[in-house]
Amino acid sequence: MAETLQGVRKRWGAVLATWCLAVAAAAQGLTCIAPGGEWPDSKGEHINAHGGGVLWHEGTYYWYGENRPARGFTTEVGVEVYSSTDLVNWTDRGVALAVSAGPGSPIERGCIMERPKVVYNRSTGKFVMLFHLELKGQGYAAARVGFAVSDTPVGPFRFIRSLRPNAGKWPDGFSRRDIRRAKKLKEADYKEWWTPQWRKAIAEGLLLARDVPGGQMSRDMTVFVDDDGKAYHIYSSEENLTLHLAELTDDYLDYTGKYVRIAPGGQNEAPVLFKRNGVYWLITSGCTGWRPNEARMFRAESLWGPWEQLPTPFEGADAATSFHSQGTYMFKVEGTADGWVFMADRWMPDSLRYSPYVWLPVVFGADGVPVLRWADSWSPAMFPAGASGR
Ligand code: GAL
Repeated sequence: MAETLQGVRKRWGAVLATWCLAVAAAAQGLTCIAPGGEWPDSKGEHINAHGGGVLWHEGTYYWYGENRPARGFTTEVGVEVYSSTDLVNWTDRGVALAVSAGPGSPIERGCIMERPKVVYNRSTGKFVMLFHLELKGQGYAAARVGFAVSDTPVGPFRFIRSLRPNAGKWPDGFSRRDIRRAKKLKEADYKEWWTPQWRKAIAEGLLLARDVPGGQMSRDMTVFVDDDGKAYHIYSSEENLTLHLAELTDDYLDYTGKYVRIAPGGQNEAPVLFKRNGVYWLITSGCTGWRPNEARMFRAESLWGPWEQLPTPFEGADAATSFHSQGTYMFKVEGTADGWVFMADRWMPDSLRYSPYVWLPVVFGADGVPVLRWADSWSPAMFPAGASGR
């Protein structure tokens, strides 16, 4: 598979690049994806769907993401949705979830909505959106997750509520002894970060225990639906130091209370989770705000762990900055044997609205390890056809 993909890319890379540029200039039908470049929608406007995710439903792809203003950091519009049948040409379908114009709503204009992910619930027939929500005027202090629901993929989504997950609950596998020990830890005793004592206290649940009563912090996030239809929310918690993976209820609108911590103290953000050939993979970034850093990767046989850490999947020049990008989602292309797309953002904090996207085809090593290599341009049409499923 790896060889095929590389070979195809080598042979067609130059040709595709020329097409891409020529057609993009005319702002008409695009024939390929040019990572890091301007990506015009069907009206010629740069796509405005940052920190997003893609959902395939009944023959159409939907790309949901942050509608960002040309200047500033707060959410003035909401979550935007685009649709496509070829993953290259996207039509703006409008605002899937709008900010509230009235004051007092948790999603009041001027809040911050980030990293929205939409999944389809087969049993309820609803489209469910989870997103990172920061309340207006509070910077990034609120650290909440928002839930919204819709009968159609393009919305409008109805905001249901926001919360901090798993109030009153301890992680799966935390024994009574672990709980007693964690409850004794006090932040005041660990003012200095990154000391060996502080690291030990974080691993033992210093911040976890602090937040059990009111619920766990929830910032960068994704949602993953397993083959059995169960859904999971994966989010940066505990002051962005530790990832949590939490099981959602059957309607995807609440938590069952079962969750695990991943890499305590590892400072992982921007989680991307996918399953291939029965193995779960998690690609994350470090924690440097809008500045890119070297991605990390984890692998597990079960969502509940253990999660084994591996080197970054990025390979080649600029792998140390993940090609100047930060991951947001990964999905398999429908109707292909094994074609996968990794989605990332190249943040431009001076003008988030015009931040480019870095979408790359994924190559897999013999042992199934995902590898991300740079491509100036490529087309999802290059993936060999095959049965759907993962
Ligand atoms: C990044 C995060 C983004 C956004 C940004 C704000 O680390 O991945 O989604 O929250 O920080 O500085």
